[in-house]
Amino acid sequence: MCDHEDPKDKILDAAQTIRQNTRKETEKGFRVVIAGKGGVGKTTITALLSHLFARDGLTVLAVDEDPQMNLPYAMGVPRERSDAVVPLTKNLDYVEEKTGARPGAGWGLMLKLNPDVSDVVERFGIRGPDGVNILVMGTVVQAATGCLCPENALLESIVRFINLREGEVILMDTQAGVEHFGRSIAQGFDQAVLVTDPTFNAVQVVKHAAVLARELGIPTVHLVVNRVRSERDVEKVEEILGDTADLFTDRFFLPYEERLIECEPDVEPMLAGVPPSPFVEELGAVRSALLRYGTK
Ligand SMILES: Nc1ncnc2c1ncn2[C@@H]1O[C@H](COP(=O)(O)OP(=O)(O)OP(=O)(O)O)[C@@H](O)[C@H]1O
Ligand SMILES: [Mg+2]
Repeated sequence: MCDHEDPKDKILDAAQTIRQNTRKETEKGFRVVIAGKGGVGKTTITALLSHLFARDGLTVLAVDEDPQMNLPYAMGVPRERSDAVVPLTKNLDYVEEKTGARPGAGWGLMLKLNPDVSDVVERFGIRGPDGVNILVMGTVVQAATGCLCPENALLESIVRFINLREGEVILMDTQAGVEHFGRSIAQGFDQAVLVTDPTFNAVQVVKHAAVLARELGIPTVHLVVNRVRSERDVEKVEEILGDTADLFTDRFFLPYEERLIECEPDVEPMLAGVPPSPFVEELGAVRSALLRYGTK
């Protein structure tokens, strides 16, 4: 149940304080949120980028914010293990024990927590192939408009509290749609990757998400058009974007990739780049852009 005792403003103030206290000048790593309509390829792209970054030698924390919890499997964690993952939301007693924080109370104690990636993974996460760290949030209580539940705030704080060092990156896969995107969980992120396919509805979603991302203060918003099959697809997306194209920092067009279906979720053949694939090449361009913008 959503606890209405904590007024939204108070919680948001606390969230702001957490951010100010934890996003130190020394923070060198960066946070990326991936969002878009259902089924456009968010989880696939999060998983593949995580592997690419890990192979670059970065420490990656992939956060699954989707209640469907399918990121671990997409990352290559075997089914038995990924099905057995206990999400944070099912683990609140444990969170309390480890942090001294309780949903809806103990903000002061929470402010003292300042873990790094390895702390958080050791306490709450799992490790997948390529040494990628995975944190699964589970079902976040979502109530009527305007209510930011203490549970949500606690989960958000855990992501926020992490103090990223040089070479550390958070990639957060989100649930479909933009309803949740306005929540503050993506606030404080450095970059957004908004994924669409070449369909009208999916492009409408990324347009809306781009506005919300800007409102959340995310300075760098990349557009990724996935499953592109033809030049006509590219033109169609450009037409639908119209003058909203300015909302995006840059844009990438990922071709339809048969091997994603064939290899799922074994990313090895995909990322080995043999035979070379236009999809992997363009994904490499997305990776380079993310590295280039970093925390800017
Ligand atoms: N470029 C591509 N070419 C072909 N198939 C793709 C491509 N990208 C993703 N897919 C496939 O599309 C399907 C949906 O992808 P994925 O699960 O990553 O989407 P999602 O946005 O995370 O979906 P959901 O909103 O349900 O979480 C998967 O079967 C995936 O393998
Ligand atoms: Mg998904």
